[in-house]
Amino acid sequence: MNDEKRLIIVAYRIPFKVTFKESGERVLQQNSGGLVSAILSLAEKGDVFGKNQKIHWFGYSTPDILQEGETQVENENFIVHPVLIEDALNDAYYEGFCNSTIWPISHYYPYLTSFNEEDYEAYVKANKIFADQINAFIRPGDMVWIQDYQLMLLPGMLRSENPDASIGYFHHIPFATFEIFRLLPKQWQTELLKGMIGADLVGFHTNDYSQYFLRSVQRVLGYDTTARDISIPNRIVRVDTFPISIDYNKFQELYNDPGVIEKRKEFLKDLSAEKNIFSVDRLDYSKGLIHRLNGFEYFLDQYPQWHTRVVLTMIVVPSRETILKYAEMKHELEEAVGRINGKYGTLGWRPVIYLYRSLSFEELGALYTLADVALITPIRDGMNLVAKEFVATRTDKKGVLILSEMAGASLELNGAILINPTDKRTLAAAIIQALTMDEQEQTQRMQMMQDRIRVYDIFKWTEDYMDQLDIIKLKQMEFEEK
Ligand code: G6P
Repeated sequence: MNDEKRLIIVAYRIPFKVTFKESGERVLQQNSGGLVSAILSLAEKGDVFGKNQKIHWFGYSTPDILQEGETQVENENFIVHPVLIEDALNDAYYEGFCNSTIWPISHYYPYLTSFNEEDYEAYVKANKIFADQINAFIRPGDMVWIQDYQLMLLPGMLRSENPDASIGYFHHIPFATFEIFRLLPKQWQTELLKGMIGADLVGFHTNDYSQYFLRSVQRVLGYDTTARDISIPNRIVRVDTFPISIDYNKFQELYNDPGVIEKRKEFLKDLSAEKNIFSVDRLDYSKGLIHRLNGFEYFLDQYPQWHTRVVLTMIVVPSRETILKYAEMKHELEEAVGRINGKYGTLGWRPVIYLYRSLSFEELGALYTLADVALITPIRDGMNLVAKEFVATRTDKKGVLILSEMAGASLELNGAILINPTDKRTLAAAIIQALTMDEQEQTQRMQMMQDRIRVYDIFKWTEDYMDQLDIIKLKQMEFEEK
């Protein structure tokens, strides 16, 4: 039993929302996100690990989730090992280096990127706290899967203590071209890349991101990257593309879900315009929210015949509010919404309905299935799962997706109207094309997109990644035997 192979997931976020009742009783609410369910399915099927084995998950937390004497928190699926990082360090790590350096540079915003030495040191320290805790836990045969840019140094830190371990790393955001990446100080470039190639398999959402990463490895570290395997002394590292997806069936079922039907009825009373355009995003400058509003304003300006007949419902989910740029953006956004409604609205018609809050699953389902058009226009987005979710909910095969060509998802969703979000003329033309598209064309386009997501859903994504990790590990062993 003791040498059973274990799956260890490492991510900045833990898979539970932890709350406390008035009585002090702790309540663990398991996240329903795609990654969590996909990882669970691995355990349920028992393909990779012993059947129904609990999954170990290391993630950042404040100490209050632990009760006296505890070092871990578990439910029926996960054993969560909280990685405690004190507040000041976490601020410099998470708000600082993660979200004021790596996030903006990776999304092509050099002018928003901070190059702060202390933040970088905090990032190294925080990654080290994760590493120390995992190094003390890991045993031969375990498989460690590290998620995302908050932990780029971690694979290297685990590798140095565990030369034979099976370690995967997945980068969920874009990897910028070398010309952008090189703006970081050379020491940071070197350490971040060396950290990532501590993994056996480094995964990205698109071939472009994989290629940009390989190019940086070649330029900065000097390794031969002509093949997708990087040969480094004593080891092979595979770099490959796995476009993340969603739980397709779960979203397909939403259309006829009683809770969703109820919400749809309720919302229909307020969304009584002839056509509904819908968007939902986290608050983020990379999501193109201002450009979207500018494009919609231009559309209203150019096509007055659509006044009173169309409404844009824009849901913005609060995110990273303590970071100045995010708070500033919220103001900018609210100003733009006010300007558009003030300029074009009438007593009975608000062109933009703007909500700054998160949605329940039923509300999301109702809004996806009510939309005539989904307007998803990030300036840069690693993948964008909203686009895939919208498509999957449309069992009625109606609705049109307008999607930015700068979203990773645009490479798969070939039935979308693809636009460049900075080009307000194209955006307005796309809105017209979508509003006037006949039902037959809507169905054809939806079908093409659904066919893709149904085949490559989140479960396939996870399986695919795990299979590759096994394959590269075997290759590794052959390489060592030579
Ligand atoms: C993106 C990142 C994730 C991150 C999420 C939410 O999708 O790739 O790693 O967890 O945004 O952002 P937050 O800062 O709230 O974790």
